[in-house]
Amino acid sequence: MRKGVLAVALFLTGGSAMAAGPDVSLLARTCNNCHGVGGVSAGASMPSIGGLPRGYLESVMKQWKYDERGAATMNRIVKGLSDDEINALAAYFAKKPWVPVSQPVGPAMHKKGKAVISENCEDCHGPTGGDPDEDAPKINGQWAKYMELELDKYRDEEFLMPHRKMKKTARKMKPAEVPAAAHYFGAQGR
Ligand code: HEC
Ligand code: HEC
Repeated sequence: MRKGVLAVALFLTGGSAMAAGPDVSLLARTCNNCHGVGGVSAGASMPSIGGLPRGYLESVMKQWKYDERGAATMNRIVKGLSDDEINALAAYFAKKPWVPVSQPVGPAMHKKGKAVISENCEDCHGPTGGDPDEDAPKINGQWAKYMELELDKYRDEEFLMPHRKMKKTARKMKPAEVPAAAHYFGAQGR
């Protein structure tokens, strides 16, 4: 009880501990312009980021900042952020709920996708993409168009993507398996 009161008092007076930290909600508003309110994206080639694992959010943003990962847009955006701001943003978005946007997929594509992912992807991402290994993001109900674009980056030898296992697995896929896997995961509601 006493501890709680102390925490509230510190919060209200905005002591030095508060002033030292970046104002995350203000920063996050700039992200929402593209990634949607609460990090739930409304655009097919724009990923949802709310509810992704904190460690993943932190590491991808730092990889962009320190030129260890290729990107079209995000590398420029994170260059202007301090590491503290990146950490705070990762914590902020990790606390948001993951909201899958289940997209319709035809029966043939669904069947093909299911076969591909149970063979190659399920071990790390889980059967729906919603129960991944610790260092992997959730991809159930992530936008299929976005996932296709990302898979193409992992498949491209020239494109800088530091996760070796993901790169190796993606490069084993046949071209037609890429949209099938992306649409399969994109269709999953949970
Ligand atoms: C101008 C639009 C735009 C803004 C603003 C923006 N992003 Fe992004 N974000 C993108 C795009 C596009 C991608 C896909 C990677 C790429 O091409 O850069 C992406 C990807 C990401 C990813 C990777 C998601 C995943 O599933 O791997 C994270 C994390 C992310 N952004 C965080 C942020 C944060 C935090 C902010 C605010 C500081 C932000 N973004 C602001 C466009 C934007
Ligand atoms: C060895 C474990 C492993 C396997 C097998 C694997 N993945 Fe991944 N996947 C990961 C990890 C870890 C990441 C994040 C990597 C990074 O930081 O770039 C990832 C990232 C992704 C992303 C990008 C998500 C985003 O939000 O940007 C997609 C899409 C994806 N995987 C799909 C697949 C598909 C499809 C397969 C099967 C063909 C597959 N993965 C197999 C571990 C794996």
